[in-house]
Amino acid sequence: MPKAIVFTEYGGPEVLRLDEVGLPAPGPHQVRVAVRAAGVNPVDWKRRRGKGFAEAGAPLAGPQRLGADVAGVVDAVGPDVTAFTAGDEVFGRAADGAYAEYAVCNAEDLVPKPPELPWQTAAVVAISAETAVRTLRELGIAEGAARGKTVLVHGASGGVGAIAAQLAVLWGAQVIGTAGPSGQELVRSFGAEAVEHGEGWAERVKALAPGGIDAVLDAPGKGVLPESVALTGDPAKVVTIADHRAAGLGVAYSRGMVHRLGMREVFGEVLPLLSSGRLRVVIGAEFPLHEAAAAHRLSESGHPGGRIVLLVDQRTPTGGQR
Ligand SMILES: NC(=O)c1ccc[n+]([C@@H]2O[C@H](COP(=O)([O-])OP(=O)(O)OC[C@H]3O[C@@H](n4cnc5c(N)ncnc54)[C@H](OP(=O)(O)O)[C@@H]3O)[C@@H](O)[C@H]2O)c1
Repeated sequence: MPKAIVFTEYGGPEVLRLDEVGLPAPGPHQVRVAVRAAGVNPVDWKRRRGKGFAEAGAPLAGPQRLGADVAGVVDAVGPDVTAFTAGDEVFGRAADGAYAEYAVCNAEDLVPKPPELPWQTAAVVAISAETAVRTLRELGIAEGAARGKTVLVHGASGGVGAIAAQLAVLWGAQVIGTAGPSGQELVRSFGAEAVEHGEGWAERVKALAPGGIDAVLDAPGKGVLPESVALTGDPAKVVTIADHRAAGLGVAYSRGMVHRLGMREVFGEVLPLLSSGRLRVVIGAEFPLHEAAAAHRLSESGHPGGRIVLLVDQRTPTGGQR
């Protein structure tokens, strides 16, 4: 029987286990994907922990699945699907958990995978790219509207920040990216200026941008909002995706669940850059599916050194079942 990573109680990485889950059936407007690779995002371990670690151990109604970032081969199509047929190579967002041999996806959340895009890259790019494009737009940074602007990206070595920093550079902005010591060279390789995060970061940014900062994206959410607002002089020029203190400072907290862009819209813009190598996605670590717990430990460290991918090397055959 096909397997997936599941958890039945909130808790640490040890609650994750590979279990038999049966073959999911695609509903209307859905397809089933034979997963080749799944991306690990911080939201996955936040879900695994539950709302506040205090709930660890609280039983759940049934086995929960994880994973939004998926790449694989369409294996069965549900009613009303015209965009894909069995055998198509795709990537995007999964509806029922991508840490699995098979995952159901809404057809509108998938895009065709170009042959030159490696499975690992395709599996880790959808969530980060959608978030990067969405938040840059909210800051008024887009193709044709970035030249002459100075953009600060906190966490430019991370999944979302690396794509945001590169897009802003490609669109003509001056970009300053914060990262830890080991991420400095990477950020510079994007064509951005690199600054170490931590104590004194704002002074280091000011030294590079004496004329001020026009827009700030805070990806890590580690308490940089007050100084970011001071640097821009206007909370409307700052967007965070991870700091819940935003509202108290008049800063926008951008949430995918509220304002998510369509995958086709995002990749219409991003895919040509990825395919031509102008936009790079750094893979920090690869794990086999059954080592999802180890992948979570690395992601939870806060310094994954690039995107983390789970690989599905062998799968349970479907026996032609739909
Ligand atoms: N609201 C939304 O729509 C949305 C969407 C996607 C993600 N998110 C959230 O956004 C956050 C970032 O996601 P991600 O995928 O980019 O994470 P990630 O790939 O794990 O990257 C983490 C980044 O944070 C930096 N960092 C770690 N500790 C830091 C500190 N103390 N001060 C400053 N920077 C620090 C890391 O830098 P070094 O490793 O170089 O030290 C790295 O650049 C997560 O909380 C995630 O849940 C929200």
